[in-house]
This record gives sequence, C-alpha cells and structure tokens, in this order.
Amino acid sequence: MHRDVEKVLFTEEQIVRGVERIAARITEDFRGEELVAVAILKGSCIFVSDLIRRLPLPMGLAFVYAQSYRDATTPGDLEVHLMPFDEEIQGRSVLLIDDILDSGRTMSAIRGEMLKRGARKVRTCVFLDKPSRRAVELDADYSCFEVDDLFVVGYGLDYAGRYRNLPYVAELKRSVLPAALAADGEQAG
Ligand code: IMP
Ligand code: MG
Repeated sequence: MHRDVEKVLFTEEQIVRGVERIAARITEDFRGEELVAVAILKGSCIFVSDLIRRLPLPMGLAFVYAQSYRDATTPGDLEVHLMPFDEEIQGRSVLLIDDILDSGRTMSAIRGEMLKRGARKVRTCVFLDKPSRRAVELDADYSCFEVDDLFVVGYGLDYAGRYRNLPYVAELKRSVLPAALAADGEQAG
C-alpha cells in the first residue's frame, strides 16, 4: 500500500494540528446549541471520529451514506442512502461532515435534505477543500486544509475503494491510477 504513494501531502502530525484547529472553532461556535454531527460515509469515518473527540459539547451523531464515484477520479451520479431519523435532525444545529469538498454536489444535496427535514441550521465541515473544482455554489464553513486539483487518498479518502486506511494524505503514483481506472465497479463516499 505505502509503495503506491507518490508523495505525502499531509503527515499524521499535520492532520492532528489541522483537526485541533477547527475543533476549537466549532466548539466556540456551537456552544449552548442542540448539536448533531451528521457524517457522510464512508469517506468521513476517520475524520469524524478524530474530530468529535475534540468537541467537548453535548451532541448527537448520525450517518448518511453517499455514493458518487464509479471507480474513477471524476464524480458520477450521486445516490444518498440511510438518512438519519427526522427526530435526530428536527430543531437541531447540524454539523454536516465529509472527507472532501470537491464539486460540492454531495454536500449541497445533503444540506438541502437536512433543511427540508427541519434542521434549525446546517454548517458544513470538511477535512479537505478543493475550491478550484466547485460546480455548485457552496463554501465549507470549516475545513482543515485546501488542496489543488489533485486526486488524493488516505485518512478516509479512497481510490477504487482502497487506501482509506493510510494514516496520512497522499498522491498516488501515476502507474497505480490507470490500472484501477479500467475497473467499472461501484463505490462509496
Ligand atoms: P463532490 O460531491 O464532487 O463534492 O464530491 C465529494 C466526494 O467525492 C467526496 O465525499 C469523496 O468521496 C469524493 N472525492 C472527491 N475528490 C476526491 C479525491 O481527491 N480523493 C478521493 N475521493 C474524492
Ligand atoms: Mg470516495
């Protein structure tokens, strides 16, 4: 796995500092509110578990499962499954959490759904932000790091379902990408 890596972009130490930085801001911003963190699976699993352990606030946790990639490095159609129960959302301040904000379509669709289900407010929180790729009008309220228009893996982010377990964020070798691009499976968030 590690030998498929071309370049490490964020080390484990940098990631910890990035998560701490936004956790402090979120803690201040949501103090006294009825907070529920809604994590978009699968990509946000590692980020959300690191983040919420640094939020010393009463809060709920719910999950949404979004699929937008078909073993490729460009987005396919978006499907959203397993929405939280309305009671978990209604009247609450939702912190919507994903691994990366790319075109913004995933976040934008789920944000709309949360508001429709009666969320008091929705704030968006991503580990990585790729502002150059935005296709819909949406900014991240909180992001740990910005990245250029590169395909990255690790810390929850996958390529063709793999590399989520890399403890750092990296760019893959070019020789790895075309092989998996040929596959036509389906994969998740
Ligand atoms: P969006 O809907 O285009 O913003 O795409 C968001 C989803 O695309 C994220 O939840 C990721 O699963 C996936 N994604 C976007 N860019 C990357 C990347 O560089 N590496 C891995 N997954 C990515
Ligand atoms: Mg993904």
